[in-house]
Amino acid sequence: MAPDYEFVGRAAEIAREGGALLMEYFARNVTIEYKGDADLVTIADRKSEKLLVERLHAAWPDHDVLGEEGTLTSSGSEYRWYVDPLDGTTNFAHGYPVFCVSMGLEHRGELTAGVIYDPTRDEMFVAEKGKGATLNGRPIHVSGTAKLGESILGTGFPSHKRHKNPNIQFYHQLTLRSHGVRRAGSAALDLASVASGRFDGFWEFNLNSWDTAAGVVLVREAGGIVTDFSNGPFNLSSREVLASNRLIHEELLKNFQEIFAGRGLSELPSAVEYYKNQQG
Ligand code: IPD
Ligand code: CA
Ligand code: CA
Repeated sequence: MAPDYEFVGRAAEIAREGGALLMEYFARNVTIEYKGDADLVTIADRKSEKLLVERLHAAWPDHDVLGEEGTLTSSGSEYRWYVDPLDGTTNFAHGYPVFCVSMGLEHRGELTAGVIYDPTRDEMFVAEKGKGATLNGRPIHVSGTAKLGESILGTGFPSHKRHKNPNIQFYHQLTLRSHGVRRAGSAALDLASVASGRFDGFWEFNLNSWDTAAGVVLVREAGGIVTDFSNGPFNLSSREVLASNRLIHEELLKNFQEIFAGRGLSELPSAVEYYKNQQG
């Protein structure tokens, strides 16, 4: 029997409507605008946020909302929604069908509910604190992979100040120490993939609250864990997210500490050497 959810029933309907709107724009060629050199935004991001926020306000007039595209209502409510109206904008703008709508709810400073809807696959992920997580109404659980060496991982790279981000080092080392690392381009879907056991772990630097709020509830409710890179508690303002099925968390943390300390690293092969050798 489906859990007796308090918020995500209505929130899922709202996310589904947002997803349908995204698919309408996806079918056309939308114009790309820039928030930074590689930070894209489209009319679909804005229209989706407008729709989601209108619906959230209608459903819960006393709840506050923070949306990526500029919505901020702060009435001092105990409840606040974190809304990413289109997570995966770069994919969306280039016609690559990996994106979603993500809405997470915080109550008195604690994450309590999350909805992530992938309209390209018609997949609805929902979770509420203490009530479990589901995908299209069926319970989901994190994977049972117990070794990093047998795991598949996800990560992402920020579009803002990307030249200052060291993640390529982590990507390289962890690629060599696992079955591989995917960079699909939607952090919310990456977290939903950990919750549903498709990924064994995921990490990223510098995500925002709207990217993570819903996915963190999903991972926790599916039996997983989310911390920062030093095993500190995850909170929405932390710039580090490390999520896993719990079983490989310690190994991941150990690897992060080693990489930060520059110990035991495999060297990045040189492209210059490679090219020289090819030339004979
Ligand atoms: C981005 C995606 C991407 C992640 C970036 C985010 P957006 O969100 O989640 O996977 O690597 O850090 O900014 O801009 O498409 O909403
Ligand atoms: Ca996002
Ligand atoms: Ca977004």
